[in-house]
Amino acid sequence: MNHSPGPARFFDSRAAYNMFVTTTNEKAAVAERVSRELPHLDPQGSALRIFDAGMGDATVLIHLMRRLHQVFTHVPWLVVGKEISIEDVRRAVDSMPDRFFEHPEMVFAVTNMPYRQAVHLGGFSDEEVVWRTTALEGTTAHDFAVQLERLHVQFAADWAVATSERTGNPVPVNPSVHVIYRGDREFLLRDVIPHPGGTDIEYELILASQPYRAATPTAAKVRMVLAPLAEALAPGGRLIGIHAAGDDPALEIIRNVWPEEDPFRTSRHDLFRELAAVLDRDDILLHDVPDEEAIFQYILHAMPSEMTEHIGTSTVLAAWNAAAYVAQIDEDRLTDAIESGRYLEATRQVVGRYDRLWFNDESYVVTRGLAESPQPGV
Ligand SMILES: C[S@@+](CC[C@H](N)C(=O)[O-])C[C@H]1O[C@@H](n2cnc3c(N)ncnc32)[C@H](O)[C@@H]1O
Repeated sequence: MNHSPGPARFFDSRAAYNMFVTTTNEKAAVAERVSRELPHLDPQGSALRIFDAGMGDATVLIHLMRRLHQVFTHVPWLVVGKEISIEDVRRAVDSMPDRFFEHPEMVFAVTNMPYRQAVHLGGFSDEEVVWRTTALEGTTAHDFAVQLERLHVQFAADWAVATSERTGNPVPVNPSVHVIYRGDREFLLRDVIPHPGGTDIEYELILASQPYRAATPTAAKVRMVLAPLAEALAPGGRLIGIHAAGDDPALEIIRNVWPEEDPFRTSRHDLFRELAAVLDRDDILLHDVPDEEAIFQYILHAMPSEMTEHIGTSTVLAAWNAAAYVAQIDEDRLTDAIESGRYLEATRQVVGRYDRLWFNDESYVVTRGLAESPQPGV
């Protein structure tokens, strides 16, 4: 699904993503990190409001929802996911039946709007926006799955993209929103269901997992993604950001092929400096925690015997794919490394040196103080 005439962008390779997700525990580790924020949440309004900034195929979100149900079992939720890729949206929606079954008091909304508008599901005229609402019938996960699958064709039309002449990136043809909930809970959820026109929705939890390309300049990451998200926090709300951080064996693999490669140039400290300069709000707090708290690891799954006795070809391929995916190496350079065979030795060497392959992600937390009593340095 490469929409641009230039080299395929790293995230356009679905096969690479699928292999990364199934051969590492990153998405579970991300959800676990986000779950550590849940005890701090204290929803005050009619629902717990959650925004997933760059939902992808919702692998992280589904993990998180399972955990959320355990903690906020009888609290209604509004979950808003922003995603431009139709493949991701279909996969996300297809993962929802079990969630609607386990947590009936849930409204799920998905949109392709830019961040600043997506948080409020607004900012466009009523004529511009394609707004759809589906009240699911029935009570079983199967009932929901059948109805959600029927929406595929509609989603494909509503999530159509064109190619931006300026950047070559895909851009939505129409800003679209699709709101989904269980019809049998409509009465209970009447204050939670969003309506066209946009509202000033504020969120108790905003999840920003890998929400920008590593190579995007810090100022753009903040202006286009983090600032609008921070401004959409509810009093007492928490934004948790996560991105790949390097300084791990995966980056060693990459540097075995391209010694000068430096993909992770924006640290949480850089983001905070920029965010502090851009935000004109003294109720929004940036929590600069030490590395031990901010950095967390995930691993490449491998058979223990494979790592110690013989490094099988599939492990080498999985390790290479994950390292190149995380470092966001574009297709042309990948082709070079693969055609020359350099990638094999580069990967074998590093995988052989350690008894497991791990990766570092970095996390950061932004909170909004409570209106009555700002929370100093929570
Ligand atoms: C909208 S973002 C993230 C989606 C979702 N929040 C998640 O964490 O999987 C989707 C893009 O981020 C990139 N991405 C996902 N996981 C990554 C990782 N561990 N390291 C670097 N980039 C990643 C992929 O290119 C993917 O297409």
